[in-house]
Amino acid sequence: MKHIIIKSPAQVEGIRRSSKLATETLNFVASLIKPGVSTLTLNDAAHQFIIDHHAIPAPLGYNGFPKSICTSINNVVCHGIPSATDILKKGDIINIDITTILDSFYGDTSATYPVGNVPEKTKKLLNRTKQALDLAIAALAPNKYLNRCIGQTIEEYLTPFNYGIVRMLGGHGVGVDFHEEPFVFHYNTHQDDVLLKPGMIFTVEPMVNSSPDYNVTIDKKDGWTVRTNDGALSCQFEHTVLITPNGHEILTKL
Ligand code: MF3
Ligand code: CO
Ligand code: CO
Repeated sequence: MKHIIIKSPAQVEGIRRSSKLATETLNFVASLIKPGVSTLTLNDAAHQFIIDHHAIPAPLGYNGFPKSICTSINNVVCHGIPSATDILKKGDIINIDITTILDSFYGDTSATYPVGNVPEKTKKLLNRTKQALDLAIAALAPNKYLNRCIGQTIEEYLTPFNYGIVRMLGGHGVGVDFHEEPFVFHYNTHQDDVLLKPGMIFTVEPMVNSSPDYNVTIDKKDGWTVRTNDGALSCQFEHTVLITPNGHEILTKL
């Protein structure tokens, strides 16, 4: 039986603080994005920022992950490993994913940014993926089913655009641990699985490919980097959200 933690008020407050720091870190790293910058430079700046705020970057050493943030460029879907040889260039898109541990509580957020000017169809991919996330979160409230709010909303909104909604990875409960129950599907599973209750905290983090192919492959050498199978661009935005008695609260909002 799957166990979804209902967070206590004290846990909610701790996760709220960690989520705020994750958001501030993401915002800070975003300000450093420009052509010529390496993803290692972004990693090191994020690492220092998190440490300076008396927190720990959750990815570092997590199941052997070697760096402090994930940096995923163009056809990399997620879990890109920062490197001195990955240099941002004009026209790229990059997802920065930040997870902080503050006083043992986790906050998790990510966003995808253009590097300099990008083609109109790339701007549309970014805007629509963000819109899909926002619409899904807007539907969240107690006594509703998770899939109806998230998977169904995202799939119905994105269907006209012929994108691929990644299935292999999803959102997750978060807060006391990095990855908790439930698994959050971003496509319509047509199943009334999780009935939402106040005190549940989880991420919503759709990964959307610019082609209809939702299949992805993990790099065999590094064991982490997830890429689109057909080389298409992939885009992702992530928030940590709390179910409240009246609806929801985005804990990673700027
Ligand atoms: N932050 C990612 C998520 O949203 C997980 C990264 S796991 C890591 O779930 F090990 F790559 F950091
Ligand atoms: Co996450
Ligand atoms: Co994340």
